[in-house]
Amino acid sequence: MGKLKAAITGVHGWVPEDVLTNQDLEKMVDTTDEWILTRTGIRERHILKGEGKGTSDMAAEAVKGLLEKTNTKPEEVDLLICATVTPDMQFPATANVVSDKVGIKNAFSFDMNAACSTFIYALITASKYVESGEYKKVIVIGADKMSSIVDYTDRATCVIFGDGASAVMLEPTESEEGIIDHRFYTDGAGRIHLHQKAGGSVKPASHDTVNDREHFIYQEGQPVFKFAVTNMADVAEEIMVRNNLKSEEVNWLVPHQANLRIIEATAKRMKLDKNKVMINIQRYGNTTNATIPLCLYEWEDQLKKGDNIVLAAFGGGFTWGGIYLKWAYDGKK
Ligand code: UT7
Repeated sequence: MGKLKAAITGVHGWVPEDVLTNQDLEKMVDTTDEWILTRTGIRERHILKGEGKGTSDMAAEAVKGLLEKTNTKPEEVDLLICATVTPDMQFPATANVVSDKVGIKNAFSFDMNAACSTFIYALITASKYVESGEYKKVIVIGADKMSSIVDYTDRATCVIFGDGASAVMLEPTESEEGIIDHRFYTDGAGRIHLHQKAGGSVKPASHDTVNDREHFIYQEGQPVFKFAVTNMADVAEEIMVRNNLKSEEVNWLVPHQANLRIIEATAKRMKLDKNKVMINIQRYGNTTNATIPLCLYEWEDQLKKGDNIVLAAFGGGFTWGGIYLKWAYDGKK
């Protein structure tokens, strides 16, 4: 038997139906459609509304669709990992809640959190279980209800984020398609520029933390932008060099959707035409861990078996990385 690889064998995404447009935001904070569009590329984002609704509700919808289109019974799933920075609760893991909601009974499940890079970290974590030969059907979810930690009085952050979920199925293969390579990095010193100040063990929730709005995202846009633009482009280029991939051999770049300018800089470094870059930030904003799998879901019908795909992400922490994979099937499932 040859060495097993892990291949994505299906993807399904889900976003809530409520839409928050730039025009809506103009009425909420001191901003303009023009500013948001030119600085970020975002026109609108989807927001999960309804009391008692959380990340697991969106993730469960994505997983239900994934099980259906891959003809998988819930009890066949061996492992489920949920990449999220907005879990339903501090504990238990949102992955467990999703398993319960969709009837997955024979899997173990857990969450991962490496900010916006979690989905790619989780994909590689999952791939190692699959490559071991012991896990045949593994689901990786990227899901975030960013609206639950966005301060809608802070114009610097509230225009950026949106809610959404998407999930992929990973299965073993002996063929040449599947996940081939990755490079991941972390620089903890970057945490000062992007974090949530309260609600953790250092600063548990109190009346003061609520009054001081410390349960929301804190971001210093410019330093984050500077690191993101350099590091995402660097790692994407590194992935190409390590795998002897020429620009014309890369079929798709799937970048984390944090800012159109960061995406364009990464594509430029890779010398890729725009038509090879998956971009849907204009409709969803930054959905944190859902960005990359939502792109795969939206472009699924255009993908072909053997396509060379580079995934690249950058997030708080700082965390960043890239993955090289060969797509394993033709078109939409
Ligand atoms: O996914 C996780 C990783 N996160 C990222 O990758 C985000 C990286 N950072 C960014 O994408 C950009 O830094 C932002 C989109 C967050 C901000 O864009 P920027 O071009 O870096 O703007 P800035 O923060 O330097 O602000 C420029 C000006 C400021 O005004 P002054 O000081 O020049 O008078 C801001 O107060 O724009 C102002 N500003 C706004 N004006 C209108 C900030 N937010 C807004 C707004 N509308 N929404």
